[in-house]
Amino acid sequence: MKVLVLNGSPKQKSDTFRMTDAFLKGFNREGKHEVTIINVIEKQIAPCKGCFGCWQQLEGHCMIQDDQNGILDLYRDADVILWSFPLYCYGMPSHLKALLDRTIPLVQMKMVQEPDGTVRHVPLADFSRIHTLVISGCGFPDWEGNFDALKIQCRNCFGDPTIVCVPETPMLNVPHAAVVADPLLERFVKAGEEYEASLTLSQETVAELEHPMIPAEEYIRNVNGDR
Ligand SMILES: Cc1cc2nc3c(=O)[nH]c(=O)nc-3n(C[C@H](O)[C@H](O)[C@H](O)COP(=O)(O)O)c2cc1C
Repeated sequence: MKVLVLNGSPKQKSDTFRMTDAFLKGFNREGKHEVTIINVIEKQIAPCKGCFGCWQQLEGHCMIQDDQNGILDLYRDADVILWSFPLYCYGMPSHLKALLDRTIPLVQMKMVQEPDGTVRHVPLADFSRIHTLVISGCGFPDWEGNFDALKIQCRNCFGDPTIVCVPETPMLNVPHAAVVADPLLERFVKAGEEYEASLTLSQETVAELEHPMIPAEEYIRNVNGDR
């Protein structure tokens, strides 16, 4: 399978990518899959101009000549697309959002309303082969609402993606937190194996991955430097 990983962390030492890396270790244990990792921050991706030139041409490419058209080629060709990024202001980082906006050339202006009432654009081609997985880390402890906007956006944009939202992820790069971080990373390795076998994750697995490493009160005390 062809796997396209869109790494949206701007950092060299990404908390989120530690989870993604562990996931890929399990997913591609036997090295059977072709995994392409794009560090989105290193790419030239201008914001969408809203010209809709892509919909006039219907070639699946953007009018702006930068790195996005190469990414669209990889996107179309992928069997699995893994979006890996930190939560920024309850959504995805802006450089990754620019990439998402500019996937518009892959759909047509034509719209369809689904039986459940949702409205979407008709894809340019049959992309139903593509499985989408989202792994997002964040700096807050677990609280209801932190990931809500992101989850709605991902469902609307990607159809029926598998979404994993993990709290307290700065702990993944704190050496003395390894006692709780390493077991989480091990769960990501196992989740990668599960995804490789079924191209989805069970609700139980997602719940295990999203389970806080330490209680919220303890995390807040640590962050604030309180005893
Ligand atoms: C600009 C900015 C906005 C952020 N917004 C949120 C947020 O809305 N909710 C949250 O829990 N964490 C937020 N964070 C914290 C990051 O999600 C957190 O530090 C994450 O672990 C960084 O992951 P990375 O190392 O993979 O980039 C924000 C961080 C930055 C720099």
